Amino acid sequence: MGKEDRVKAPIVEALIKAYEKKSYHFHIPGHTRGQGVYKPFKDFMGEKFFRCDMTDEFDGIGTLNPPTGPIKEAEEMCAKLFGAQKSLFLLNGSTVGNIAIAMALSLQGKKIIVNRNCHRSVLTGMIVSGAEPLWVIPQKLDDWSLWGKINPDDIEKLLDTHNDVEMVWLTNPTYEGVVSDIKSISKICKKHNVPLVVDEAHGTLWKFKEAFPTPSLDLGADIVVQSFHKTGGSMAQTSVMHIAKDTNFDVEALVHSLRLLQTTSPSVILLAGLDAARAQLETEEGAHNIQTAIDNANYLRNEIRQLKHIKQLEQHPCDPTKIFIKAEHLSGIQLESVLEKDYNTEVESASDRGLLILSNIGNERKDFEYLAKVLKEIDGKNYTDAKPDKKKHMPMLVPEIKMNLRKAFYSEKEEVNKEDAIGRISAEVIAECPPGIAVLLPGELITEAHLPYLEDYDKLEVVKQG
Ligand SMILES: Cc1ncc(COP(=O)(O)O)c(C=O)c1O
Repeated sequence: MGKEDRVKAPIVEALIKAYEKKSYHFHIPGHTRGQGVYKPFKDFMGEKFFRCDMTDEFDGIGTLNPPTGPIKEAEEMCAKLFGAQKSLFLLNGSTVGNIAIAMALSLQGKKIIVNRNCHRSVLTGMIVSGAEPLWVIPQKLDDWSLWGKINPDDIEKLLDTHNDVEMVWLTNPTYEGVVSDIKSISKICKKHNVPLVVDEAHGTLWKFKEAFPTPSLDLGADIVVQSFHKTGGSMAQTSVMHIAKDTNFDVEALVHSLRLLQTTSPSVILLAGLDAARAQLETEEGAHNIQTAIDNANYLRNEIRQLKHIKQLEQHPCDPTKIFIKAEHLSGIQLESVLEKDYNTEVESASDRGLLILSNIGNERKDFEYLAKVLKEIDGKNYTDAKPDKKKHMPMLVPEIKMNLRKAFYSEKEEVNKEDAIGRISAEVIAECPPGIAVLLPGELITEAHLPYLEDYDKLEVVKQG
């Protein structure tokens, strides 16, 4: 029996069985296996898709909350593969995982150490829980307008100064692939007996090849959230939360919070997609696809090294599949626009100084040969007349917090003109995606420095003055 034959995907199998079974349906979803769906949409998507669109509980699929049947089996297989005590499937992305973590583990007024460039879902979690952030400010890569690594010494200093920290909650890698020294940070957290949570939304593949940095779960993190859909091959909005084998975290509290937050009608298609992605990562084909993604990225990286005016961010260690480039005379947004308009090429995201290219498990070498050719052509052109962008995209400010996030969010508010908001306290999160890093948080003092990031806003919500 080959490796492929030994790989199982219990939700996928249960879904196929349910699909093949002849039966009558008097339950949700109300389109009843596609019969009630708008015809052009059904014709486009295909009948099979709607026949498979069911929630858990039916036809031997099992349930998500609590996990039973094939869904439980699939979560257990995922936990085994990633070396976790438990892996929990998330149906509102890593976003719901982060909110559940905050809700369960960072209660009202409790201190948590968190990196300033965290994703907005971490901030949402803090608004829900009322926790007090102690910001850790990563290194700034000014030439790239990006946030860099977190310095482990900064975590140590904060833990030495505050003896009542509930958890250290860090993002690794950053959206653009900057990798921090989680091994050292994990040691520091263990020394201080404080749990470490890692938002590893962009690191799902790390377990599977030496070329990647070591996953945080293998470096002693207590809880790790991964957006499987970002790089792992599952469908949009599906993620996984891994809980370490030897954590002191209150696992039950976490499971309960998640149960409160997750939908009560989980899509079996999305769950099967997660199960299938995990299974695929275990197959030889899956391993081959990951290697191809790395090889393609290395190919492109070598091609970019030959260019004169386009440079790439080179860091060690790094996730080779995330390639951040900048061009001498173009902002990231302008370069993105050239790629889109002149070359029909879509990249992951663009920012002030550069843009992010992902080499994915679904890409082929010819995609990269084309991109290399395109970049070479752009490199040879003269873009010196490009006007500078008015709007700034990557928030690089250090927030001056004047009020607890939750308190500011729930305070009496008023809307004021942007210019009149200077000196006032923000009552809202402004964090455009990507990268989902906050320009403004509830409780933060609004200053002149925020204005270049707020070009698209006329009014801001601020805390009403008493
Ligand atoms: C670092 C980070 N954490 C969390 C998230 C939220 O993930 P999801 O889109 O899976 O909800 C993102 C999304 O971009 C992210 O970049």
